[in-house]
Amino acid sequence: MKAEIIWIYKLFLCVVLAVNSECRKQSLQQYQKSEDTRLLCPDCPQPSMVKYSRSLEHCARKCSKNKKTFTCRAFYFDHQNRKCHLLPFDRFMDGAHREYRVNFDLYEKKDYVRECIIGSGVNYKGRRAVTKDKIPCQSWTESFPHEHTFQPARLGKKDLNGNFCRNPKNESSGPWCFTTDPEVRHQECGLPQCSQVECMRCNGEDYKGPMDHTDSGKECQRWDSSKPHRHPYQPKKYPDKGLNDNYCRNPDNRLRPWCYTLDPQTPWEYCNISVCDPGNDSDVDATSSCFREQGQSYHGTVSVTPSGVTCQRWDSQFPHNHTYSPQNYKCKDLRENYCRNPDGAEIPWCFTTDPNQRLAFCTNIPRCETENIDTEDCYEDNGGNYTGNLSKTRSGIPCGLWANHSNSGESSVGLERNLCRNPDQDKHGPWCHTTDPSIPWDYCKLKRCDKSPNISAHPRSISLVSKTSCFIHKTTRIVGGAQVHKAKDGSWVVSIQKGVGYSTDCL
Ligand SMILES: *[C@@H]1O[C@H](CO)[C@@H](O)[C@H](O)[C@H]1NC(C)=O
Ligand SMILES: *[C@@H]1O[C@H](CO)[C@@H](O)[C@H](O)[C@H]1NC(C)=O
Ligand SMILES: *[C@@H]1O[C@H](CO)[C@@H](O)[C@H](O)[C@H]1NC(C)=O
Ligand SMILES: *[C@@H]1O[C@H](CO)[C@@H](O)[C@H](O)[C@H]1NC(C)=O
Ligand SMILES: *[C@@H]1O[C@H](CO)[C@@H](O)[C@H](O)[C@H]1NC(C)=O
Ligand SMILES: *[C@@H]1O[C@H](CO)[C@@H](O)[C@H](O)[C@H]1NC(C)=O
Ligand SMILES: *[C@@H]1O[C@H](CO)[C@@H](O)[C@H](O)[C@H]1NC(C)=O
Ligand SMILES: *[C@@H]1O[C@H](CO)[C@@H](O)[C@H](O)[C@H]1NC(C)=O
Repeated sequence: MKAEIIWIYKLFLCVVLAVNSECRKQSLQQYQKSEDTRLLCPDCPQPSMVKYSRSLEHCARKCSKNKKTFTCRAFYFDHQNRKCHLLPFDRFMDGAHREYRVNFDLYEKKDYVRECIIGSGVNYKGRRAVTKDKIPCQSWTESFPHEHTFQPARLGKKDLNGNFCRNPKNESSGPWCFTTDPEVRHQECGLPQCSQVECMRCNGEDYKGPMDHTDSGKECQRWDSSKPHRHPYQPKKYPDKGLNDNYCRNPDNRLRPWCYTLDPQTPWEYCNISVCDPGNDSDVDATSSCFREQGQSYHGTVSVTPSGVTCQRWDSQFPHNHTYSPQNYKCKDLRENYCRNPDGAEIPWCFTTDPNQRLAFCTNIPRCETENIDTEDCYEDNGGNYTGNLSKTRSGIPCGLWANHSNSGESSVGLERNLCRNPDQDKHGPWCHTTDPSIPWDYCKLKRCDKSPNISAHPRSISLVSKTSCFIHKTTRIVGGAQVHKAKDGSWVVSIQKGVGYSTDCL
């Protein structure tokens, strides 16, 4: 009864404060969104109701108001014509089908389409109709084999539909039903908690499950809403993070999935999600002498940065304090001071023992050779004429703009944007400045075209090189107190000399 009074009070507030955008925004809370979709059911007994609506939220509020004769289970909104389609059916109704339609967004009430519960499952309106011992449920309208007083007509709001499991009295044991077994009057249905239906691995970075309440039981705020908390994790900006509706997610490598909460006093909280049995969780993709893709499975022992600075131990907070402790990130293999990629960076990295350089990418770890270069691109001879669109170094670091590194006297013809080029006819092919401050430049992830003979066997390219090879990489920077310049084999060396670093082709 108390809960109902609170609910009525909230509704009253929303009606009185119709201009209050908080009520408006949060009207989408209970819904599951499907973008560019509508839901049709030509054969359903009751047709949908179409109304003009000034906004999506307005449409949602119409659907949330249950009428005696029309139970709205879902709605879709036609953004272009501002038409609000209220649906007395959901996607699981016989004959209902979803259809792709640009500019239409479908919102279904979670209580109808989700087969898990939060807490006691008092709002559960799903389609489970067997008990935990697999006994089929008795229909609520029937009084055989068990007579009872739960009349659907009288308890309209409880949705005592068909023979589906329900929890009309908010019992802590969850939804239940009368059974068709004369020996068993009623039994609970064993519906799983939403926190348990999908387990999480590691720190739950890939968790895409349906939990939408925090540890302390607070309801999560929708990711596509900025009420009550403004935040940077707009789903459109992070399409691969699964920021759907208001589910607990871990888009930023925190310890566990979390969410913003509806409580204005509590910006965010962690969620309690079951952890997968580690069992055979050994990383089959682990590599040690080289790394694949972004190197998240690199388990090797490189522990110096490309410029020769020793990496900081992961279990140390000195000289740099950080949150990537081995005990917090158990499956990231943060042993010793080895280069790792615990946060989905481009490639493995480490904190450095140089107080002036917080972290460095370990571009000194090679990529695995078996890995296909993901581009068909190749260059002829030394790549001096290369005009392709690649703009990543061999270790995957994005190239920096040439314009930011312009040398007076250097011909900037063809040095477009941040594309890989070879303005100094470097023997080892096209290169670029990088966006990693600790790596002034590096070669690009390009192959020499097969038909092109190798450079030492090709007299013309040798003459080409000797003609123009005194291009100066003036971008040399002081890194960790030392000068970095290019060496013959393309690897990095640390120089203690002051001055400009020259391409060794000149020397
Ligand atoms: C259901 O019961 C739980 C505790 O048992 C309570 O917290 C919750 O408010 C109740 N819900 C309703 C709708 O009565
Ligand atoms: C988290 O869930 C587990 C299993 O359901 C439960 O035992 C534990 O008490 C929960 N922890 C919190 C903080 O809610
Ligand atoms: C691990 O996997 C192997 C083979 O895939 C299997 O023989 C072994 O029983 C598994 N161990 C565990 C603990 O699951
Ligand atoms: C690192 O130390 C600074 C200053 O002592 C502190 O403000 C900051 O919160 C610390 N960061 C972490 C991740 O511990
Ligand atoms: C690059 O292009 C110039 C002029 O277009 C041409 O003379 C030269 O032979 C080309 N060099 C290579 C290595 O293909
Ligand atoms: C490179 O990109 C430009 C525009 O971004 C495009 O017009 C051109 O065809 C691309 N070239 C190659 C070789 O893919
Ligand atoms: C590079 O240049 C662009 C535009 O010219 C500028 O926005 C950017 O801040 C520059 N970056 C650096 C590192 O100087
Ligand atoms: C490059 O040329 C040398 C000498 O002719 C030859 O031994 C070597 O196999 C060649 N390498 C490639 C990749 O063709």
